[in-house]
Amino acid sequence: MRVIAIDGPAGSGKSTVARRLADRLGLGYLDTGAMYRAVTFAALRRGIDPADADDVAKLVRSVDVEVGRDEVMVDGVDASIEIRGPEVTRAVSIVAANPEVRTELVRRQREWVGARGGGVLEGRDIGTVVFPDADLKVYLTASPDVRAARRSQEAIDLDYDVVAADLARRDALDAGRRDSPLAQADDALVVDTSAMSVDEIVDDLVERLP
Ligand code: DC
Repeated sequence: MRVIAIDGPAGSGKSTVARRLADRLGLGYLDTGAMYRAVTFAALRRGIDPADADDVAKLVRSVDVEVGRDEVMVDGVDASIEIRGPEVTRAVSIVAANPEVRTELVRRQREWVGARGGGVLEGRDIGTVVFPDADLKVYLTASPDVRAARRSQEAIDLDYDVVAADLARRDALDAGRRDSPLAQADDALVVDTSAMSVDEIVDDLVERLP
């Protein structure tokens, strides 16, 4: 069983690097951020206040979330586009700070790996909480400017200043929450992706694999 943990803040290059690495190694890829987004989407769709911890805790235990490589299904509805939209993005940090949501999603993440015998997982707490014994733990970073520029290029209608402000707000919420905050594992390999190409990063990671 080979497990690779890729953590880091939004815009650090996690998704691109994790997907490419999974392909190179013939492993499955799981975007755990998409799971938190899917639960947020389900709450909004059912009219549940994302800040209502008890209601969201009830929801997370029953909601059907299938995160595929390119598609995210929530209770049988294709939510791939909406989970990236502004409403979900605004509300996701509060849902991700809910300890019961984390317990349930971490359980599902471990189950996903168990069923496949390994994989590449990207998130915020993979190397610190979900798989502290991962074969390789990577923490990606990039300068705030580069991260905001990457995010604003992902969609045509995203304004750089709005994106930069939103990233700073989400960083503070993700790093400041009590339960499993965004943090570097002591033994993680820290890679600043600001000035590196995806190929350079992936080649470097493949070389470091035990
Ligand atoms: O990577 P992303 O922007 O899609 O993540 C969405 C949110 O979910 C983000 O605010 C952080 C949170 N998250 C988390 O708390 N733990 C994870 N393993 C992955 C994401």
